[in-house]
Amino acid sequence: MYIVSSRDDDELNGLIINTANQVTSSPPLVSVNISKKNLTHDHILKSKVFSISILRKDTPMNFVGKWGFKSGRQIDKFQDTNYKFAVTGAPIVMDHTIGYMDLKLVSHLDVSSHTIFVGEVVESEIINDGEPLTYNYYRDIKGGQSSKNAPTYSGWADKPKKDSEEKMKWVCGKCGYVYDPLAGDMDSDIPPYTPFSRLPSGWVCPLCKAEMDQFSKLD
Ligand SMILES: Cc1cc2nc3c(=O)[nH]c(=O)nc-3n(C[C@H](O)[C@H](O)[C@H](O)COP(=O)(O)O)c2cc1C
Repeated sequence: MYIVSSRDDDELNGLIINTANQVTSSPPLVSVNISKKNLTHDHILKSKVFSISILRKDTPMNFVGKWGFKSGRQIDKFQDTNYKFAVTGAPIVMDHTIGYMDLKLVSHLDVSSHTIFVGEVVESEIINDGEPLTYNYYRDIKGGQSSKNAPTYSGWADKPKKDSEEKMKWVCGKCGYVYDPLAGDMDSDIPPYTPFSRLPSGWVCPLCKAEMDQFSKLD
């Protein structure tokens, strides 16, 4: 998984993506697939530059939450983020990053809900030798969720397959708020059909901010 970052003049923004593809090696072209609903999409079209930060396997879930479930329209994701500017002028997220690429846009293809952006790598660097975070590891081992704007998202596939346990409601022991997986928690960008067991670590009760260990199953 990666963070793609770009800018609109002084406004910096970025988002999580699950896939980046090598297109050719000479010239070195790489493609990413970005939803038209995402702010970063408009930034790339305007500035014609972007960077790709390769995330480390131990990237915390709340970091994925910030970059993959929140929009730059709501928060400044670069505040409290360690970053630098690339040769192209694109910002590069350095936190939880094992290496990065700096790209200038050379082509883009409209594919209905998304745009495939093809960039030429202007500069790249490996900054540490950790293992990359794969989408499989994020989903199956860390229990991470897809996002509505990810190309991998498909409502039916992301619905819980087993009834009982995964549709179970959980109640906050401090304030009585009930977490219903069928509704998710849209204020925290948790999509519908997210079982309690798949909430990102660091998720807190939206009413009283109690931590997850304060919740118990609602019979
Ligand atoms: C695991 C994961 C993978 C994602 N993959 C993509 C992707 O490949 N393309 C995309 O456009 N959005 C993807 N997203 C969704 C964006 O990261 C998300 O919509 C983000 O909040 C958009 O931020 P922005 O509006 O600030 O650009 C993914 C999210 C997650 C959690």
